[in-house]
Amino acid sequence: MVSRLSSVWLERPAVDPMAVTGRSPVQIREAGLFYITELGFCLVDYMQSKKSTGICVCLKDAEKTRKHLSEKNLIRKDLKIEKDEHFIYFPVKSTPKGINFYKVIKKEFKEIEKKPTSYKEIIKIPDKFKQKLPTSYDAIGDIILIKIPDNLLKYKREIGTALLTSKKNIKTVCLVEPVTGEYRTRKIQVIAGEKNTKTIYKEHGLTFELDVENTYFSPRLATERKRISSLVKHGETIVDMFTGIAPFPIMIAKHADPKIIYAIDKNKHAVKYAKQNIKLNNVLDKIEVINADAADISQVLLERNVKADRIIMNLPFSAYKYFQNALDIIAKTCIIHYYDILNEEEIPERIENLKKIAEKKHISLETLKVKKIKTYAPREFYIGIDITAKKKHEMLPM
Ligand SMILES: C[S@@+](CC[C@H](N)C(=O)[O-])C[C@H]1O[C@@H](n2cnc3c(N)ncnc32)[C@H](O)[C@@H]1O
Repeated sequence: MVSRLSSVWLERPAVDPMAVTGRSPVQIREAGLFYITELGFCLVDYMQSKKSTGICVCLKDAEKTRKHLSEKNLIRKDLKIEKDEHFIYFPVKSTPKGINFYKVIKKEFKEIEKKPTSYKEIIKIPDKFKQKLPTSYDAIGDIILIKIPDNLLKYKREIGTALLTSKKNIKTVCLVEPVTGEYRTRKIQVIAGEKNTKTIYKEHGLTFELDVENTYFSPRLATERKRISSLVKHGETIVDMFTGIAPFPIMIAKHADPKIIYAIDKNKHAVKYAKQNIKLNNVLDKIEVINADAADISQVLLERNVKADRIIMNLPFSAYKYFQNALDIIAKTCIIHYYDILNEEEIPERIENLKKIAEKKHISLETLKVKKIKTYAPREFYIGIDITAKKKHEMLPM
C-alpha cells in the first residue's frame, strides 16, 4: 500500500531541483516530481506500507518488550516500529512467548526505506556492463574520485549520478586519470554534482583543506601517517621533503612531540594549502613550510643548521633521485622513511642502489624494513622502507 505523506510546492526561480530539495535527479524522479513550467514544481513524498502481525504494548512496557523481542530476533527489520500517545506497536515475525502483557494486532506498518549499499544497485546501464563497473574509488571530503575503464566511459554520467545518489555526504563526483608529473597531480573532470574541486577532509581528528585538482592527497595513506607519528620521539628534528598539503607533519605535530618539522614542497598550490592546514590544526609552532626544490635542501636548510633525526621521502618513482640530498642533512643517526612504487623483484636492487649512494657519503644504512602499503598495479606495490642511516666517521671513538 502507498500512503501520501506530504507535498511541497517549490517556486520557479529555484531552477536547480537538487539544491532546493536536497535530492538527486534520480531520487526526485522516484519520489514523484511534478514540474510546472514558469510556475514551479510540486514534490510529493510517498511512503510504502505493509500489513503485518504486530504486538501492541503500553508505553511503560516498551523498553523491556523491545529487549525481549530483540533477544528472540522477532522484530521485523523491514518495517518501522510505531507509537501513539499510549501504545507502542512492534511489527513481528511471529508472536512471542514468555511475556503476557501484549495484544496481537494486524496493522499497516510503514516500510523502512532501503538505502542502496552500492551505486551498482541503482545505476541505469545495460546489465552486461554492470559487472565491469569500478569497485573502488577515493572519497576525499565530499568529493569522489573515480577511475573508469575506457569501455565504460560512455556511461560516466550514469556512474557519477548513481554514486551521488547512493552516497549521502558526497556533493561532487570526478573522473580522474592516474597521478602524473612532477607535482603528482591528476587530470580531473566533474561528471556529477557541483563543479567544485576544493574540499575539506578529516582524518584521525585532523582537518585538511585541499584542491584535488592541483595538489596531491591520498586518504589511503592515513594508517601510514599514524604509524609514522607513533614512532616519533620527544624533541626530534624532522624534515618532510615532499610534503604536499602537509598531512605527515600535521599528524606528527598533533600526535607526537617533535622539536620542529620542516615541510618542503615545490608546488606552490600544495604549499598554500600546507600553510592553511597548519593554521587550521593549530600546529603553527611546530611546523615551518618551505616552498623549495628538494634538490636544494641542504642550501635551503643551511642557515637553520638543520641536523635531521627523521626524514620523510614520499615521492614514489623519483625519491631515489633525492636520496643523496637527504643524506646531506642527517644527524649522526637518522631514520628515513622512504616510499616508492616497485615490482616485488625490483625491491632488493633499489635497496642496493640506496646503499651505494650512502656508501659514497660514508654513511651506512641499517635495519631496512620494507612494508607493502598498498597494491598499485598487478605485481606492483606502493612500498615504504624504514631506513636507519648512520654517519660512519662520527661512529668512531674520538
Ligand atoms: C606523492 S606527493 C606526497 C605528498 C605528501 N607527502 C602526502 O603524503 O600526501 C609528492 C609531493 O612532492 C612534491 N614534489 C615533487 N618534486 C619535488 C621536488 N623536487 N622538491 C620538492 N617537492 C617536490 C609534489 O609537489 C607533491 O606534493
